[in-house]
Amino acid sequence: MAEKQYLKREFYCGKIDEKVLNKKIKVYGWVNKIRELGGITFIDLRDREGILQIVVKENYSDIELVKKIGREYVLMVFGEVIKRSNPNPDLFTGNVELVAEKIEILSDSELSPFFPENNSDVSEELRFQYRYLDLRNQKMQGNFKIRSKVDLSIRNYLSNQGFLNIETPMLSKATPEGARDYLVPSRIYKGKMFALPQSPQLFKQLFMVAGFERYFQIVKCFRDEDLRADRQPEFTQIDIEMSFAEPKELFEIVEGMFKEIFNVRKVNINTPFRIMSYDEVINKYGNDKPDLRIPFEIKDFSEKVKRFNSNILNDIIKNNGKIRGLVLPESSRYSRKVLENVNNYIREMGGKGAVWIKETENGFKSSLKIEPEKLKNFYKENEINRDDIVFLIGDTPSQSLFLAGKLREYLGKEFIDKNKLEFLWIVDFPLFSYNEDEKRLDSNHHPFTSPKSEDIEKLDSEPLKVKSIAYDLVLNGVEIGGGSRRINDINLQRKVFKLLDLTDEEINEKFGFFLNALKFGAPPHLGIAFGLDRIVMLLLGEESIREVIAFPKTTSSLCLLTGSPSKVPEKQLSELGVKFEE
Ligand code: AMO
Repeated sequence: MAEKQYLKREFYCGKIDEKVLNKKIKVYGWVNKIRELGGITFIDLRDREGILQIVVKENYSDIELVKKIGREYVLMVFGEVIKRSNPNPDLFTGNVELVAEKIEILSDSELSPFFPENNSDVSEELRFQYRYLDLRNQKMQGNFKIRSKVDLSIRNYLSNQGFLNIETPMLSKATPEGARDYLVPSRIYKGKMFALPQSPQLFKQLFMVAGFERYFQIVKCFRDEDLRADRQPEFTQIDIEMSFAEPKELFEIVEGMFKEIFNVRKVNINTPFRIMSYDEVINKYGNDKPDLRIPFEIKDFSEKVKRFNSNILNDIIKNNGKIRGLVLPESSRYSRKVLENVNNYIREMGGKGAVWIKETENGFKSSLKIEPEKLKNFYKENEINRDDIVFLIGDTPSQSLFLAGKLREYLGKEFIDKNKLEFLWIVDFPLFSYNEDEKRLDSNHHPFTSPKSEDIEKLDSEPLKVKSIAYDLVLNGVEIGGGSRRINDINLQRKVFKLLDLTDEEINEKFGFFLNALKFGAPPHLGIAFGLDRIVMLLLGEESIREVIAFPKTTSSLCLLTGSPSKVPEKQLSELGVKFEE
């Protein structure tokens, strides 16, 4: 028997409206709901574009078949589009319905563990285990439509700006980005491993040596690190590199790209983005990815509080500590419970607690014993409104900043205007940080980042004071991208490796191929990479990147759908020369 040749989609269920009134059409879809009312059967047929009501009249030719239909069955329905007598304003298709003349069951379905419309009532484990059912939910379908459009808008935009889309290898050598590598054993060279790329960093730099000048790629990266809401072991970067350019030019290109990305949802964004130095950001917000939607900053009240004559505060200052403060607008009504929570929160974060000051019906009060008159003057002098509450945190300079930054985020949540988009470039990062555990320097970004030329002379004497030409882009408190000017001088690159405590052998073994390339006309170049998943998450107002990745891993790095990672047969392991320890 010849194979039936009738599968051709002409109409999406969710797009049917009065334009096709009185026409006979064919639709395909899944049974979202089915109900019988006075002999008439109503089927809500769902496809990726939405839902269409199908009416099966009493006199339908094969009512036995209709009785078999259950939820999530896949149907082909042919019939006439008519005006609906009781329109449903909630549906795009709500003014019409399709009167079935021919129904075919293309696929049946077992009772689904959950239905598309109630996926949010289901545990994440079950959603991931049956991700293909979870993805049937309209919100999820919408998320991936937007992601697809964002992807395309980036490709179009960067291509128009002269960037070439070139692929880099997945089976490669470890590139340091600060996480552990996923390794792939080689069958042919037993005992040797490929590493999956943490980023295409070195390859994109080699593209600049190769003379491509402007490169981009939307590319999978792999990092074995602890997972959070905005981290996955495999994620997607928008990776960019260009030669003969200053950061300013790159920033403009990037800002144009974000205009395109947000335009996908018709959201207008203001450019240029704000720029702040790393030092300024740390001093104002206590961390390097501040959420600028929170309308208050950290203040240094160390000098001002001396007048309180408080032994506790004065002792901290005498021991070279700092008293940082947060002034929360119109918050003097905070209850005792909230104030206790603040104290507990600071203790949980490793601090000693927080002092509060506020005006009550009985005058100014504080959790420390301080004369009301002094508190009143403090408010006046610092132009603090009378219904604002003040929190003070005393500790070492860096710890007080850290704690005040944490408290700013903790208390700031309820001040956030969710419709706001606050982009921020952070520049002039320190080149190195100090790794206390291993008693050596670490790169703040990666070892290919260029120091600022005026700081090169400090590399030996005061390496921790050396600033780099590195930049991050932060949106609403999420780091969405980071990059830098690269070192294109072999001697400087060697020097940085040495400062990171790499021996000559290690340098040659790990980066010999790359240093070689720097010998053959490496142009000045710079670049950046963005986390596409994070960008789409923020664009959609989602809380986790797992909502915008089709098949994500759990927070414990498992794929519940496929059950990976999984055991492999002994034979396969021995071919690879791999033996596991008990
Ligand atoms: P970086 O390590 O900052 O830079 O990564 C760039 C951006 O990638 C995103 N990102 C992640 N997203 C989801 N899950 C993860 N585990 C994850 N890790 C990083 C972040 C981050 O800002 N080679 C450099 C870029 C360069 O210098 O050009 C790099 O990879 O949004």
